[in-house]
Formats: sequence, structure tokens, C-alpha cells
Amino acid sequence: MAKSDVTVPQQLSHPPGPDGDEGDVTVVACLKGGSTKTTSTNYLAFVRALKRKRAKGRQSKVKVLDADTVSQTTHDWFKQAKADGLPYPLDVERYPFEDLGEYLAELRAEGWDVLADIGGGNVTLFHKALPQADRLVVPLSPSNFDTRRLAPTFEEASKVFDEHARGGFAVHILLSRKISDKQSREAREKIAELSFRGEPLPVLDTEVEQLIEYTRQLGKIPKNLDEYTAVWDEMMRREAQRRAAAGVVVQ
Ligand SMILES: Nc1ncnc2c1ncn2[C@@H]1O[C@H](COP(=O)(O)OP(=O)(O)OP(=O)(O)O)[C@@H](O)[C@H]1O
Ligand SMILES: [Mg+2]
Repeated sequence: MAKSDVTVPQQLSHPPGPDGDEGDVTVVACLKGGSTKTTSTNYLAFVRALKRKRAKGRQSKVKVLDADTVSQTTHDWFKQAKADGLPYPLDVERYPFEDLGEYLAELRAEGWDVLADIGGGNVTLFHKALPQADRLVVPLSPSNFDTRRLAPTFEEASKVFDEHARGGFAVHILLSRKISDKQSREAREKIAELSFRGEPLPVLDTEVEQLIEYTRQLGKIPKNLDEYTAVWDEMMRREAQRRAAAGVVVQ
């Protein structure tokens, strides 16, 4: 086994789409402000870009859609990095989109891996994006206040589930800005009372700590992707297990 295989967990490939080489769509949303959607979207996109580059040996085709109608922090992040001449590994586009759902489908078919940051509690954009999603990532800080927004988020998700283009999406809840084990344990207990389509809400084992470092990365290329790499890898493992359980052959 090559050394890099030891340090960089190998990604399980996605089932081939009808055109053979489609990208995938990650929708990051939580109908609650300040739940670390933008931070999570960007870090996961950097992780994805790095993995694609390593796997394919060429520039990644990873795009972030800043679908926050109000603050557009993701786009500001990109703009500042570009102004500073940093070799930004992602493509970033910002709201408005003529039709977010159609645009996601188009990008996916063109082979882009897309991460959409649905900001500002925008239910309309959430409804547009979700039917195109391969996965829904709901980041939340394990405080009482954040867990209370989970039920409305999944109520809205249920409304568009049947419109899904390919029969459904994976769900991952990510506890981030974690302050203490006690707090995240309590959050997990509260989340365990909720369900989505008759199943318990899947919370990732991997958690992202509250670190000052995360607040300082705006406009930069983060040097430390360890926690979000672990998040991405766990999501891929869980999805592969789900596909295997559903009898989908992964090539
Ligand atoms: N792991 C972390 N540790 C410490 N601070 C964090 C962490 N993750 C995010 N933050 C900070 O928390 C704040 C909210 O995060 P972020 O902007 O990503 O949330 P958001 O859900 O996109 O918010 P909005 O709803 O306003 O778009 C930001 O100041 C960000 O820098
Ligand atoms: Mg945001």
C-alpha cells in the first residue's frame, strides 16, 4: 500500500450516474442563524477539493454555491483570498441563482461536486436545493437553542422529499463548535427524540471543537483540515454502508 493511502483514507467511489461521471451535491442547511453552516460548507469544500486533486491528479472541480440571500460570507471569503493572490482551490458563486434546483442539476451533470450553503434560514432555497441533494448536512452547535431548530428544519425537508430527483438523500447531523462532552451528550439525547421519515436522525460521531482558529480563517485557505477531513470520511463511510445495505453495487 502506498504511504499516502495510510495517511489519507481512501474514498469509496460513488455509484456511477447515468452519464458515468456525474458530480455530487451536498446541501448544508439548518433553519437557524449562526449554526456554522458557512464554516462547515467551506471546510468540507476544501477537504473535497484536496481529495479530488489527490485522487485524480488534476485541479478539482469543486464549486461552492453561496445561497445566503443576506450575508454572503462564503463569497466574501473567496473574494478576499483572490484579492490576496491565494491559489484558491474552489470555484465560488453567489446568490441570486435563476433557479437553484435546475442549476444544481446542471452542475452535477457536468461533473461538478457542489456544496450549497443555504443561509439565512431561507426555506424557499432549501426547498429548491434539497431535491437535487446527494446528502443534507445539518451543522449545529450543541446548545439548547440550536437543537430546537432541528425539528422545523426536518419538517421543511419532509415537504420536498417526494420531489427528489433520485429517490432520496443521505442525512448527516454534525455537532460543531463543541464546547464540552457534557453539552454534546445532552444535545445527542435531545436529537434522539426526533425522527425523519420514521428513522432516528443520524448524528455523526465526529464532532468539531470550538476553536478560535475557525474564527480566523475567513479569506484564507485553512491549513488545518483534520477535523473536517474526519467529518467527510465518516459521511462517506456511512453512505457506503447505507448503499451496501440497500444492495447498491459500488464500483
Ligand atoms: N468550530 C468553531 N469554533 C469556533 N468558532 C466557530 C466554529 N465554527 C464556526 N465558528 C464561528 O461561529 C460563527 C458562526 O459560524 P458561521 O458563520 O459558519 O455560521 P452560519 O450558520 O453560516 O451563520 P449564518 O446563519 O449567519 O449564515 C462565525 O463567527 C464562525 O467563525
Ligand atoms: Mg452563513
